Amino acid sequence: MTHLCKETLVTVVNGQLPGPAIEVTEGDSVTVHVVNKSPYNITIHWHGVKQWLNCWADGVPMITQLPIQPNQNFTYRFNVIGQEGTLWWHAHVPFLRASLHGALIIRPRNGASSYPFPKPDREVPIIIADYWQLDLAQAARRMMHGFLFSFANASTINGKLGDIFNCSGVPEDNYVLDVVPGKTYLLRIINAALFAEFYLKIAGHKFTVVGADASYVSPYTTDVIAIAPGETVDALVVADAPPGRYYMVALPNQAPLPDTQTPEYTTRGIMQYSNTHSSADDPAGLISDRGVEEEEEDKGSSGDVPVAPEMPDIHDTITSYYFHSNLTNLYQTVVPQRVDERLFIVLSLGSICQHGQSCRRGDHNETILIATMNNVSFQDPTGKTPLLEAHYYHTGSVDLMQELPDRPPRAFNFTDEALIPYGPKEMRLEPSYKATVVRRFRHGAVVEMVFQSTAVLQGDSNPMHLHGHNMILLAQGFGNFDAAKDVAKYNLVNPPVKNTILVPNLGWAAIRFVANNPGVWFIHCHYEFHLTMGMAAVFIVEDGPTVDTSLPPPPAHFPTYCGHDDNLLP
Ligand code: C2O
Repeated sequence: MTHLCKETLVTVVNGQLPGPAIEVTEGDSVTVHVVNKSPYNITIHWHGVKQWLNCWADGVPMITQLPIQPNQNFTYRFNVIGQEGTLWWHAHVPFLRASLHGALIIRPRNGASSYPFPKPDREVPIIIADYWQLDLAQAARRMMHGFLFSFANASTINGKLGDIFNCSGVPEDNYVLDVVPGKTYLLRIINAALFAEFYLKIAGHKFTVVGADASYVSPYTTDVIAIAPGETVDALVVADAPPGRYYMVALPNQAPLPDTQTPEYTTRGIMQYSNTHSSADDPAGLISDRGVEEEEEDKGSSGDVPVAPEMPDIHDTITSYYFHSNLTNLYQTVVPQRVDERLFIVLSLGSICQHGQSCRRGDHNETILIATMNNVSFQDPTGKTPLLEAHYYHTGSVDLMQELPDRPPRAFNFTDEALIPYGPKEMRLEPSYKATVVRRFRHGAVVEMVFQSTAVLQGDSNPMHLHGHNMILLAQGFGNFDAAKDVAKYNLVNPPVKNTILVPNLGWAAIRFVANNPGVWFIHCHYEFHLTMGMAAVFIVEDGPTVDTSLPPPPAHFPTYCGHDDNLLP
C-alpha cells in the first residue's frame, strides 16, 4: 500500500484493509477457512464470540492452539448463539492485528425488524484502526525484548487515513458515508487500533447508542462516543441535519503525561448528504457511492469544506468515564448474587533484570519494562503443546504452572498522583517476575474481580478483555477501590454485559462472571503494549458434571508442532 508518500508491505486478509466483514444470523454455524500465505505464524481470534464448549476455536497461539504456520491452512468452526450485535475478528499474534481484522456482525434470527430499536435504513461498519509503515512483526519483537516504543503513522476510519497531509501537501482520502436526508443509519463501530482509545463525533449529529460488545444497551443519546481498543459500540444516527457535508472525526485520546506523549493522529471521515433523492426514489437508502459523487460534482459542491465537530480535549479522560458509566443493559441483567471467588487484580508496570536475577534496584540500564497483573508478567508458553491440549489430555505441564495471585503482593496507594512517572528514568517500578500464571475455577463458580489501575499506567488505556465469557460491569470509580464503600455502588439491576472492560484511568472497575464455559481462556489488556509486555493471565474453567458441560475433544486437523519452539512470534 502507498500512503504518506511511502510504499509499505502490509499483511492483509483477501487483499482488503479492513478485512472482509463476516455477516451472520444468531444461531448460525460459521466456518472460516484460513489459508496462511503470509510469512508469519498466525491465529485468528473471534473477539467476543463466547465459543460455548468450543474453546478449541478461540484462536490464541500456544494457549488454545499451535499457530497456523506459513503455507498451512486451518478451518475454524464455531456457532454464534445468544449474542446479537457487533463483534470482530483479528489475528492474535503480537501487533499483526493492526492489519488483520474485520467486523463480525450478528443479526437477530427474525431479521432487522426484531431489533429492540427503530429499524435502521442502512447498517454501516465503522472500523477505527491505525496505519503502520513499520514492519509489525519487527515492532512486536522489539517490544518483547525491551522497552522500545513504536508508533503508528496515522489513524484510520475504514482504512482511510482521512485528511492527513502527505509529503507533497496532498491530503489522504477520507472515508465517505453517503446519507439520504431523514434516513436512519446503524453504525457498527469497532476500535481495532493497537493503542489508542478514541473519541468519535459527527458534526451536527447525535448518536443513540443501542449496543456495546454485542449486547443491547438502553438507548443513550450522546454527541460523542468513547471507544477503547477491543470495544464495539452500535449507535443509530439520523440524517436530520441540513443537507451538506459533515466531518466524522476520530480523535485518539490520551491521559495527561507531559511531553513524552505519543503523537496525535486525528482522522476525518465525511458524512455526505445526497440532496437530490427523495425517499421514494431510494426506499432502501442505498445510493451507490459513484452516483452521489457524480451528482455532487455536477453541482460543484464537492469542494465545500465539511462542517467540523468540536472535539473533547485530547487529554480528557472524564468524558470517556461518563460515556462508559452511562451504559446500562437494555434488559434486566441476571446478576449472580452468591460470589464464590474474589480477585483483586492490580494492573501495573514492573521491571525485571535483563541478565539473570542480580540487577541493582533502580539500575535502569539493566532492567526491562514489563506489564503486570498482581505483579506477575505473563510468560507466553512455548514448546509443542498448547495449554488447552495439555489441560484436556492431562499431560501435566498445566498443573505445574504458577497460580495467579488473587491480590497484589503488597498494598500501596495505587493511584497516588505523586507516583505518576515523568519519563522512563523516573518511573517507580516494582521488581516483578515473569511466569505462565493460570487460575483454575470450578465449573459454575461465580467470580468477582476488581481491576485496579495504578499511577504508573497514567497515559495508557486499560481495556481488559476476557475470552469465552462475558463480564457484568457492576461499578467503576476513580481512586483506590475501597470495598467498605464501593460495594454499595454496585448496579445489581441492569449493569452492562461486556467482553472488554475499560478500567478508568487512575481508577477501578468491578465485574462478575460465571465460569461456566470449560476450557483455557486468555484474559488480557487489549492495549497492545501491555499485552505484549505481559499484562495477561490464563483462566482454566473445569468441566462440569455432564457431557453438555464438558469440553469435547479437539476438532480434526488441528495444527501440529512445527519442529521449533519459537511458535509465538509472528
Ligand atoms: Cu481481541 Cu485476546 O483479544
